[in-house]
Amino acid sequence: MNSSNLIFLYFSLLFFTAFISATEVTHDGTAIKINGERKIILSGSIHYPRSTPKMWPDLIRKAKEGGLDAIETYVFWNAHEPLRRQYDFTGNLDLIRFLKTIQDEGLYSVLRIGPYVCAEWNYGGFPVWLHNQPGIEIRTANSVYMDEMQNFTTLIVDMVKQEKLFASQGGPIILAQIENEYGNVISSYGDAGKVYMNWCANMAESLDIGIPWIMCQENDAPQPIINTCNGWYCDQFTPNNENSPKMWTENWTGWFKSWGGKDPFRTAEDLAFAVARFFQNGGTFQNYYMYHGGTNFGRTAGGPYITTSYDYDAPLNEFGSLNQPKYGHLKELHGILHSIEKTITYGNISSIDFGNSVYATIYQLNDTSSCFFGNTNTTTDATVTYQGVDYNVPAWSVSILPDCKNVVYNTAKVNTQTDVMVKKINEAEDEPASLKWTWRPQVIDDTVVLGKGQVSASQLIDQKVTNDVSDYFWYMTSVNLDKDDPIWTDEMSLRVNGTGHILHAFVNGEYLGSQWASYGIFNYLFEKKIKFNPGNNQLTLLSATIGLQNYGARFDLIDTGLPGPIEIIGKKGDEIIIKDLSKHKWSYKVGLNGLDNELIYADKKFASQWQSENLPINKLMTWYKTTFKAPLGEDPVVVDMQGLGKGLAWVNGNSLGRYWPSFIAEDGCSTEPCDYRGSYDNSKCVKNCGQPTQRWYHVPRSFMKEDDNELVLFEEFGGNPTLVNFQTIRPGSVCGSAYENRDMELSCYGRVISDIKFASFGDSQGTCGSFEKGSCEATNDALSVIQNACVGKESCTVPATESVFGSTNCGEGVSKRLLVEAVC
Ligand code: GAL
Repeated sequence: MNSSNLIFLYFSLLFFTAFISATEVTHDGTAIKINGERKIILSGSIHYPRSTPKMWPDLIRKAKEGGLDAIETYVFWNAHEPLRRQYDFTGNLDLIRFLKTIQDEGLYSVLRIGPYVCAEWNYGGFPVWLHNQPGIEIRTANSVYMDEMQNFTTLIVDMVKQEKLFASQGGPIILAQIENEYGNVISSYGDAGKVYMNWCANMAESLDIGIPWIMCQENDAPQPIINTCNGWYCDQFTPNNENSPKMWTENWTGWFKSWGGKDPFRTAEDLAFAVARFFQNGGTFQNYYMYHGGTNFGRTAGGPYITTSYDYDAPLNEFGSLNQPKYGHLKELHGILHSIEKTITYGNISSIDFGNSVYATIYQLNDTSSCFFGNTNTTTDATVTYQGVDYNVPAWSVSILPDCKNVVYNTAKVNTQTDVMVKKINEAEDEPASLKWTWRPQVIDDTVVLGKGQVSASQLIDQKVTNDVSDYFWYMTSVNLDKDDPIWTDEMSLRVNGTGHILHAFVNGEYLGSQWASYGIFNYLFEKKIKFNPGNNQLTLLSATIGLQNYGARFDLIDTGLPGPIEIIGKKGDEIIIKDLSKHKWSYKVGLNGLDNELIYADKKFASQWQSENLPINKLMTWYKTTFKAPLGEDPVVVDMQGLGKGLAWVNGNSLGRYWPSFIAEDGCSTEPCDYRGSYDNSKCVKNCGQPTQRWYHVPRSFMKEDDNELVLFEEFGGNPTLVNFQTIRPGSVCGSAYENRDMELSCYGRVISDIKFASFGDSQGTCGSFEKGSCEATNDALSVIQNACVGKESCTVPATESVFGSTNCGEGVSKRLLVEAVC
């Protein structure tokens, strides 16, 4: 072979390798195409910083087993660039490792760079230093902002390109997103909004990543950018261009939780209904937001007032365990949708309107056809007659018939087990209920007594000037008052207008009082009687934030801290005299001495200076420390914070997030089970009223060592740590459900089924743990059938048929069901 032949061979090989390894992602007005083939893509959001690298493979594997094709994540700018041009991609911020884990598990990925992300994440993902850049205006046509946005977006794209992670390079990423729901706020930015949005599109396209870019909730998105839908339902959505396929970037699987708010959940039936309807109506890409919500560790929770848990009632719960029956009911749906992928993406569509919100959609490809029968009526079940056969379609449900003859799935009929999770005490501790505590006060003398700060100004400054390095910001001033001052009376009070979000006030070293925003209203008025000494008085106000605003037009400009006015009010009979302190000389200090002194780490200088005597209870601003043994086994670990007020917690220096069990969730939960029928929104199905908003906090196993571990608390309000304890969480009982002629499958996930508490084949009703027999029942003893088939095994499968359970005398039109409650 001569040298030119060799060179030819070399280049053909090179070309060939590049060719086979790349995945071509295109689309038409009907579907996303992978290597030229139309596809349906089922995707789920998992945000890497809301779990730990150790959890990632398991979460992604479970997502794959759950029938997903892709994992979506946002990219969190403020986490990666906490200070300007200082980057962090370590630990749970290791984006590349996360993407490679997705690739290793054989899934696609959707990269929503934003870099504004919303996501109930602090400040919507913007670093607060951005706000402090001179001349900046955020999310509009402003060159300072656009330069920063471009800098970060390019950095991420370059990192990803370098690792060949875009599908065009053979990697897993099939779609990328720029901005986030800008269409919801664009009008409030006037013409500049439109200029900015087009700039975003051009900037993104110029990065040349070889896969499609999307914008969500952005009707003006210019081609070739695809605009996509977010919401609880997107079946009625049409993209803004006939070349764009119908895509749903956020199917909200539940909702987030706020301090003081109720705990929203969304039924499996309604979620499956929304998905089935979307594909009935020509959808091609659907992403669950969230598939795994996880935890807002550290100070990442957005706000104001987003809780540390970001469970979201997602198919995988906060700890990464299956949220059944949601997970299983969707898994079944995914399998069926994939099985008819060809027909529903290539087939001809026809539909039959049966009236009263009942209609059939038929996809026909050559001699195969697949049908969806949808009933969007909220109360009335329907009978659909198709090709001479009658089909019952319950209200608010979709039936899928892959061959247009047999119903293999109905969104309202759950044939998946439900798990009831239980908490177990930490068996690694001899006396788990009584951890031994040491403590130390938060040293506040220099601030509270002396008023010593780091900087001063003759105005009240917004807490965002601190670049949000801490929740805590001290405002200090001295007030000189003589007895002959016109304001001086026995009835003086201090009045503070605050916004964000907690205030603790001190005068002359004495604690005066606290106040915090009530749920949903984030500014407050603090007014309290105050006693001044004649002469100089030291006034110290500590402001604490609980997550900066993450959504809304110009949310970045919302006041944070104590915008004032701050006034002294003197009352003399009917006369009211006001002294405004807002223009006083204020001295400022950021953060907590305890954190400066690294109290949260066992090996630092102040590690030994803790007291074990006279443990204070309900004492404002106290540090507590204890050691504990990691619970045995593999089950997820939580720490019960019952009895505490509000503060921050660390295990071995890893932040668990903010805790606030003393904040009781508002009232208004219904005692009736939630009816899945009818449009869902986050106020529809709620629980946890009147309970601590969040009592249990996730302690990822990777935060713990096998021997002794250290828990440190900064208790801001004052609380009682003696009830704090570590527990594990696992399914305690599982309930199987199968409609007639389906298999009832039951699993204790590797543990043994020890007992059967309930079994019935007939028309029994109720929820797991409280089933009740109905009016008809099969003749054989269902309990002993199930006991024989299941007890002593890790899992079992029993067909729900009359041949197994005997005949039933249920009347016409009754959907017979096998219901079982088992103990794990
Ligand atoms: C959307 C937003 C998401 C998330 C969601 C609510 O509007 O795009 O980031 O905030 O709402 O969970």
